[in-house]
Amino acid sequence: MSSPRRIYLDNAATSWPKPESVYQAVEHFQRTIGAPAGRGAYAEAIQVARQLDRTRQAALELVNGRRDDSVLFTPSCTAALNLAIHGLLRPGDHVVTTVVEHNSVLRPLRFAAEQRGVEVTLVDCDERGFVEPAAVRRALRPATRLVAVAHASNVTGCVQPVEAIGDILSAHPARFLIDAAQTLGHWPCDLAASRADFVAGAGHKGLLAPLGVGLLFARAEALRELTPLVQGGTGSHSESDRQPDDLPDRFESGNLDVPAIWGLSAGLEFLRQRGIADLAQQAAHLTVQLVEGLRAIPRVRVLGPSADEPRVGVVSFQIEGYDPQEVAAGLDAAHRIQLRAGLHCAGRMHERLGTLAAGGALRASFGPFNQPNDVDALLAAIAEFAAAESFP
Ligand SMILES: Cc1ncc(COP(=O)(O)O)c(C=O)c1O
Repeated sequence: MSSPRRIYLDNAATSWPKPESVYQAVEHFQRTIGAPAGRGAYAEAIQVARQLDRTRQAALELVNGRRDDSVLFTPSCTAALNLAIHGLLRPGDHVVTTVVEHNSVLRPLRFAAEQRGVEVTLVDCDERGFVEPAAVRRALRPATRLVAVAHASNVTGCVQPVEAIGDILSAHPARFLIDAAQTLGHWPCDLAASRADFVAGAGHKGLLAPLGVGLLFARAEALRELTPLVQGGTGSHSESDRQPDDLPDRFESGNLDVPAIWGLSAGLEFLRQRGIADLAQQAAHLTVQLVEGLRAIPRVRVLGPSADEPRVGVVSFQIEGYDPQEVAAGLDAAHRIQLRAGLHCAGRMHERLGTLAAGGALRASFGPFNQPNDVDALLAAIAEFAAAESFP
């Protein structure tokens, strides 16, 4: 008996599959280039340096960046967020953030509060996950140095009104950090329109790169205020044991994950050709199909906004009486349908949604290669679970 097709619906964690061109790019780098960045005068090393420049440029175009904005490569979105948060904050600073945030924002801020004398205000969201810009305004103080907001929730998928928040901040000196882990590649993210100072993202999620690369987009004037968290070799100014001031070297010590960045370059080209608007629409159709299908199944509670509100292709839900982890394991074992269960590194958001005590929720998240028949298969399997008196 042949095993069922793998139906991967955990693209919010990392995207899979990648476009064929991404696999080819990584293989090409590994087999024929294999050189480090910024550390050689031979042909392949120069090729790497050029490819890195091209990739930064393509990434900057994706977010409508300016020529003098920087694109820093990091190992992950978590590392990019830590660089912005710890690089910026000083004792006595105040930070405004939200209950929607991932632990990649909340934990560095908790650390800064406990170890560095930083004060943090958490702004609430409504029951769908939306944050009210006026609530951000009310939380601001003269000492507010940073406002950090997730562009889209990795639990409910709701997209925050970052442009309206950016407008509010235009009259305040606080720096604005957007966690775009769930929007880059899925939803338009515009540095200029949002007036963001820093945008952190993951290469391996919506940008379709392999695991191992994150990005921090930074405005030139904001980047001048950042202290590098890692010091070391950059391949430049080697006569000095002082960290160089040049960009991006100041923030990119140590060898970069060039194979992943090579793949990122191909992922960005794939997105340029497909168009973010087109992909967002495809995800929106799948989201409507899934949300409406789940709502029609008795004992299923769908979290978050309605399907026609601003949201990315992330849908969380619970089945009354079932532990999400058990359902996820059962879905994989019986149907090869792969969802993420639990708290999604966002305990405060689950607390807000009232799902903490039940162990969180099940989450399905789409990538560019998901099709309506994936949703059909998931709905059929969930209906089977929900109808069973006990675990099937
Ligand atoms: C909203 C959000 N921020 C940050 C991260 C961390 O991303 P990474 O896995 O690249 O560190 C995630 C990962 O799921 C996320 O969903």
